[in-house]
Amino acid sequence: MKPSLVILTGAGVSAESGLGTFRDKGGIWEKFDWRELATPEGFREHPDRVHEFYNARRRNLLGARPNAAHAALAALETRWTAAGGGFLLVTQNIDDLHEQAGSKRVAHMHGELLKRRCAACGDVRPCREDLSIALACETCGREGALRPHVVWFGEVPLELDAIFTALEGCTHFAAIGTSGTVWPAAGFAEAAKTAGAHTVELSLEPGENGHMFDERRYGPATAIVPEWAAGLAF
Ligand code: APR
Repeated sequence: MKPSLVILTGAGVSAESGLGTFRDKGGIWEKFDWRELATPEGFREHPDRVHEFYNARRRNLLGARPNAAHAALAALETRWTAAGGGFLLVTQNIDDLHEQAGSKRVAHMHGELLKRRCAACGDVRPCREDLSIALACETCGREGALRPHVVWFGEVPLELDAIFTALEGCTHFAAIGTSGTVWPAAGFAEAAKTAGAHTVELSLEPGENGHMFDERRYGPATAIVPEWAAGLAF
């Protein structure tokens, strides 16, 4: 069977680039209420507060740079695909640091902060500026319908067909910097294990599903990810 690697990343891989995680001490969901700011209901009730929350995160992201973990994953993709292996990097993150580091085969299952979507016509475009309810969609002209191209709680994540197809055929699976608490991403390790893959968890501490990994390495991503990626035999 051709070696095929699926990697799942979470907020922990971008933590050392200065982007916040969600459930660590002092995390984003300790400071903000996800029900208010990361649900379709919240956006319907107070779109201006939701825009303010994502505008601040977008501005912060524009000043962020990839770290050694992002770089190691991009180099691993190059090495692995050059050798004819399968490769997919699934990220729960809405930042673009994997792409900035050179990763190509990236599936943003929770969407992308540097894109916006029109809730009226579905048009998706790059977005590096603040959004507001005063803006009109350039495609359909509707005012107040622009939202971050981000998957909110209660919405269906993106690219799930491609992700589960990759998991069913993978020989190696790595979960990096994720607490393993949000589904369906929290179930990917089990899907990989069912496919017979070797599974590894790389994080600061065990996630909720940490017990089920074949291999576990803990520490800052900028230390443990380059070491793991360099040593991963094809
Ligand atoms: N290096 C490695 N891992 C780290 C680091 C670091 N420097 N800092 C934190 N971590 C680990 C934490 O130990 C934790 O396991 O990263 C994980 C972050 O977990 P969460 O904050 O829950 O983030 P994540 O798993 O990505 O959340 C999943 O929840 O709110 C939704 O849509 C949001 O995509 C997000 C999803």
